[in-house]
Formats: sequence, C-alpha cells, structure tokens
Amino acid sequence: MVASGVLRSPPPGSKMPRLVAALAVVLLPLLSAAVGSAAAALPRGGGLGFEATLRHVDAGAGYTEEQLLSRAIRRSRDRVEALQSLATLAPGDAITAARILVRASDGEYLMDMGIGTPPRYYSAILDTGSDLIWTQCAPCLLCVDQPTPYFDPATSATYRALSCSSPMCDALYYPLCFQNVCVYQYFYGDSASTAGVLANETFTFGTNATRVTVPSVSFGCGNLNAGSLANGSGMVGFGRGSLSLVSQLGSPRFSYCLTSFLSPVPSRLYFGAYATLNSTNTSTTDPVRMQSTPFVVNPALPTMYFLNMTGISVGGYRLPIDPAVFAINDTDGTGGTIIDSGTTITYLAEPAYQAVREAFVSQIKLPLLNVTDTSVLDTCFKWPPPPRQSVILPVVVLHFDGADMELPLQNYMLVDPSTSGLCLAMATSSDGSIIGNFQHQNFHVLYDLENSLLSFVPAPCNLI
Ligand SMILES: *[C@@H]1O[C@H](CO)[C@@H](O)[C@H](O)[C@H]1NC(C)=O
Ligand SMILES: *[C@@H]1O[C@H](CO)[C@@H](O)[C@H](O)[C@H]1NC(C)=O
Ligand SMILES: *[C@@H]1O[C@H](CO)[C@@H](O)[C@H](O)[C@H]1NC(C)=O
Ligand SMILES: *[C@@H]1O[C@H](CO)[C@@H](O)[C@H](O)[C@H]1NC(C)=O
Ligand SMILES: *[C@@H]1O[C@H](CO)[C@@H](O)[C@H](O)[C@H]1NC(C)=O
Ligand SMILES: *[C@@H]1O[C@H](CO)[C@@H](O)[C@H](O)[C@H]1NC(C)=O
Ligand SMILES: *[C@@H]1O[C@H](CO)[C@@H](O)[C@H](O)[C@H]1NC(C)=O
Ligand SMILES: *[C@@H]1O[C@H](CO)[C@@H](O)[C@H](O)[C@H]1NC(C)=O
Repeated sequence: MVASGVLRSPPPGSKMPRLVAALAVVLLPLLSAAVGSAAAALPRGGGLGFEATLRHVDAGAGYTEEQLLSRAIRRSRDRVEALQSLATLAPGDAITAARILVRASDGEYLMDMGIGTPPRYYSAILDTGSDLIWTQCAPCLLCVDQPTPYFDPATSATYRALSCSSPMCDALYYPLCFQNVCVYQYFYGDSASTAGVLANETFTFGTNATRVTVPSVSFGCGNLNAGSLANGSGMVGFGRGSLSLVSQLGSPRFSYCLTSFLSPVPSRLYFGAYATLNSTNTSTTDPVRMQSTPFVVNPALPTMYFLNMTGISVGGYRLPIDPAVFAINDTDGTGGTIIDSGTTITYLAEPAYQAVREAFVSQIKLPLLNVTDTSVLDTCFKWPPPPRQSVILPVVVLHFDGADMELPLQNYMLVDPSTSGLCLAMATSSDGSIIGNFQHQNFHVLYDLENSLLSFVPAPCNLI
C-alpha cells in the first residue's frame, strides 16, 4: 500500500527499532477519524470475579498423543530461544533489550472472551509472561491467520481510542502519538509483534454462570501483526504490569488448575473473588497442605513472575546446587527462575540441569539412550524395561523459599515421541530457569498479586 502523511523519524542515534518508522507510516491513513470522546471511568468493585475454561491450543485438532507432546516440546524450545535472544539483541545492555522484547508469542492455553458491544466472542492466548491484551483489528494491514473475523471497532458502540496523554498510553514501553491517538507497538522475543491503536472497550469474561461485563478495559487493536496465534485471535496478558488483565480488573489474583497434559478435559481459570485454594477439591486420601512462596521482582523484567528457587531433591537427596545458580544477576537482570504458563517443559540453568541429570543416571537402573543433537530432551532411558523387571523412579521435589513442590511422576517423566525413550521432561538453559506448565499439571496454582505470593495445592483438576 502507498503511505501518505508526514512522518517524523526517530532522533539520530535513537535505539528505537526499525519497525517503529515503517509502522507509523502505514498507520497514518487509518487514524484520522479514530479519536473517541472520553467516557467516564466506572468504579471497579473489589468483588469482581469469574471462572473460565482454558483450552489447550492443540485440543480438538485430532493430534495423536505423540504429536501433542512433540508439538508442545518444540514450542517450548522456540519460546526459550526467544527469551534468550535478549542477550544477543543488545549486547551489554540487557535491561534495554528486556524492555523491547516482551516475551515469546507462542502460548499453550486459550481463554474465551467477548469484545465490544454487542460482544464478539473469540479465544485469546493466555500469557503470564506479558501484559497487553490485544486482538487483530479491521482494517487489517498485516494480519496472521485466526479462526474468527477481525474485530471491527466501527461495529461496536463502546470502542474509545485513547489519547496520548492517557495513563495507559504512558504505561507502554514504546508509545507513539498520531493526531493525539495513542499508538502501541509490542514486540515478543521471536519475530512476533503487534501494533495498532490503544483503546478502551467493554469486555465480557467468564462461563455462562459467572459471566461479567467490564467497561473500559484498555487493549491493543492491532492493525499490523506478525508471528503466529496458534489458533487464537489475540493474546491476553496476565503479567504483573499495569496493562495486564490482572492489573486492570482491580482484583489482582487468579488461579488455574491444569488437567493432565493428554486429558481431553479442559482446564479451569479462576479470577478475582473466584480465585481461592480454600475450596479446592483435593484428593481425599492424603491430607495435602497448601504451600506458598513469595514472588521476587526482577527490575529488568518486571512483568514476569520470578520465584526464589532454592534447590532440587531427587530420590530424597538434596542436590549440591549453589543457590546462586537460580538467582537473578542484580547487575544485568539475567538468570533467575520464572513460572510461566506458555512453556511446557521445565528449563533449568545448566549447572542445575547437569546435577539433576547425574542424579537420574545414577538412580535409574535402565540403559541411558544416546539422543541426537536436535532432541530437546536428553535425559532419556531405554523403554519399555525388559519383562518382569520393575523400575524405580526417584521422587523429584522443587524447593522454593517457604514451599516444596513434590512432583507426581507424570509431571516429570514422559515417553518422548522422537526417541521412544522414557525421558525427564526438563532441559538445559543457558540463561535463567523456567518452571513450565507440564510440571504443574494437577496442581491448583494461585497467583496472589496483592500479597505477592504464589500458592499451590495438588488437586484432581478434572474434578474441581
Ligand atoms: C479508559 O479506561 C480507563 C480505565 O478504566 C479510564 O480511566 C479512562 O478514563 C478510559 N478512557 C476513555 C477515553 O474511555
Ligand atoms: C452458554 O450459553 C450459550 C447461549 O445462551 C449456550 O449456547 C451455551 O451452550 C452455554 N454454554 C454452556 C457451557 O452451558
Ligand atoms: C489450528 O487448528 C487446526 C484444526 O482445528 C489445525 O489443523 C491447525 O494445525 C491449527 N493451527 C495452528 C497454528 O495450531
Ligand atoms: C482462604 O485462604 C486464605 C489464604 O490464601 C486465608 O487468608 C483465608 O482466611 C481463607 N479463607 C477461608 C474462608 O478459609
Ligand atoms: C552479572 O552480570 C555482570 C554483567 O553482565 C557480569 O559481569 C557478572 O559476571 C555476572 N555475575 C554472575 C554471578 O554471573
Ligand atoms: C552412545 O554413544 C557413545 C559414543 O558415540 C558410544 O560409545 C556408546 O556405546 C553409545 N551407547 C549406546 C547405548 O548406544
Ligand atoms: C530466597 O530465599 C532464601 C531462603 O529462604 C533467602 O535466604 C533469600 O534471602 C531469598 N532471596 C530473595 C531474593 O528473596
Ligand atoms: C470432589 O471430588 C470427588 C472425587 O474425588 C467427587 O466425587 C466430588 O463430586 C467432588 N466434589 C466437588 C464439590 O466437586
């Protein structure tokens, strides 16, 4: 398309990414009539809450169990590589790099929601690693495949573009201003990005029984998007920053209970007043106790949920890992340990992974498999065992400040479709550690932002 209008280029020597300039040019023709009138802000009670269904991105597509696993493992690797590209993007200035790169775009779970008045329903990728709520909007200059029509602001009675002086515009990393309309651009760690108008809109959340309609939620109406949406039509940020859904709804807590990875039963998300572990239907046999560990803030990546990981036990033996291996480097913000909804398997910083691997190799009486260079999982054993040989697998406990997470067997062992071996569902990372969602299957996990605590309790997630 032919661009029109006058574009002021970034100041010389500016570190703004090249996409900024191209984007402002193509958006100009769109924005001329986009400034809405200011609507009065509605008070938000503390009692807001809802319950929603989380669908795995590959659910219902007819994949075999092997395909489901290999797709998720591949996505995890891409997501981790994107996170680690932080280091190469701006050598010597990781904090700036972290502010540009938000997070890899791929996610694992989709949440249904309605946008506009009347509501148009669509599924968005839930992402605890980023903040912005966004969907692809008409008119679309560059869009990726999505299963529902693009949202057209012209068909909604409640759409309001935000002015450049709005506080939400200020909360963007790279706000742009055109004719006093706030233009956002958001980069994820891989090639994915979205750009368009920052606007307020009425959103509808929750299952039929808990449906809530919330006015004036700020979101990105993306006219220029790249990457993949994994069968969703946008993303919903659940991070710690002010643009995330959690922060905007003024009831900053949510919980989820992820069903077994291969279960057809969808998972559950609880928001606001519905997010509590007290009423979790825990299994009746063992008297499990709820555990909590504080979140840690990493100033370089303030959106993400960092935890204070202190160690790992394998087979009842606490591995000799220096706790510094899990810590954030205060100088450049690298390292640390996050919990992430969008990564499937767990990635451990190299020295921690090596210690776990050695413990598995010494404790499991099965031949170790030689794996190829391209395989993500490399602690793999020959499987199945010879007839009539019983195999004892060591118990794994992840230790956090104030909490121990004892993993059920199916949360750390899997049969890798690429090798047919019995593999540890963990891999090595050259930067920080990431606790992936495979490790918290059948845990009810609560993110309590008010008290800055992560709590969890084992639960049969298909039953609660
Ligand atoms: C957008 O929503 C925010 C938060 O509810 C509110 O403070 C602001 O006034 C709204 N702006 C417009 C233009 O509707
Ligand atoms: C929710 O309500 C819609 C419309 O009223 C209905 O079509 C749908 O089946 C309901 N969903 C559930 C899970 O009850
Ligand atoms: C979207 O879902 C369809 C089937 O529902 C599947 O064939 C396709 O591979 C999926 N696309 C992505 C990007 O996951
Ligand atoms: C529920 O659990 C919270 C801790 O997460 C506790 O403070 C609260 O008192 C409990 N409420 C009930 C009704 O037991
Ligand atoms: C922390 O980062 C700085 C700057 O990149 C580096 O010089 C230092 O060695 C790092 N510290 C540790 C413990 O890795
Ligand atoms: C694995 O590879 C090494 C070196 O290539 C070889 O010495 C070893 O015998 C192989 N082990 C198995 C179980 O194939
Ligand atoms: C992490 O936990 C350990 C052990 O409880 C504590 O000594 C340390 O100060 C904590 N570190 C941070 C950054 O909170
Ligand atoms: C709790 O789980 C049991 C099975 O473990 C089930 O029979 C029961 O209906 C569940 N209760 C609720 C309230 O969901």
